[in-house]
Amino acid sequence: MKAQRPVVIWLTGLSGAGKSTIATALERYLCSQGQHTYLLDGDNVRLGLCEDLGFSDADREENIRRVAEVARLFVDAGLIVITAFISPFARDRALARAVVGPEQFIEVFVDTPLAECERRDPKGLYSRARRGLVTQFTGIDSPYEAPLCADIRVQTLGSAVQDIVRQISEYLNRRNRG
Ligand code: ADX
Repeated sequence: MKAQRPVVIWLTGLSGAGKSTIATALERYLCSQGQHTYLLDGDNVRLGLCEDLGFSDADREENIRRVAEVARLFVDAGLIVITAFISPFARDRALARAVVGPEQFIEVFVDTPLAECERRDPKGLYSRARRGLVTQFTGIDSPYEAPLCADIRVQTLGSAVQDIVRQISEYLNRRNRG
């Protein structure tokens, strides 16, 4: 009925890297193509499903585990799921891939240098983290393990969001043909 191949497009990257911006633009584009999508974003999932979780390593692990399980259910329902979470630990991203199923999981590394994320600082959190007002902040006093072999790597520095959306959609098209 949906005439589409369900998949999870898993965006990972630092806070401020541009994950939510890309995810929203990608969702808008896919919808314009008649695709059925669902967007899971750290900033809203943490207000509900994961409201009991903080930013310790263990809580991030649990956050990603729950998101992976939810994404798996949406894939089962036939949707193209876009997720936007820092997901800083390689092990947790590997777990998400295993939960969803490797054939239906595309890891997208939103590769924006820390200095640029900190310059953007859309929520003022880097500034607060530098002053010690926010702790365990990714990139400052909590690690980010950059993917070594993501399916797609996008660079937001010097690229327009529409170019990145095109890069991801072309990958999806090649994959659907293959
Ligand atoms: S993850 O590490 O568990 O994947 P997630 O993507 O859900 O993180 O949430 C990240 C968002 O929470 C950030 O974009 C930021 O707005 C907010 N945030 C608040 N405190 C922190 C922190 N200590 N580290 C990272 N992000 C934080």
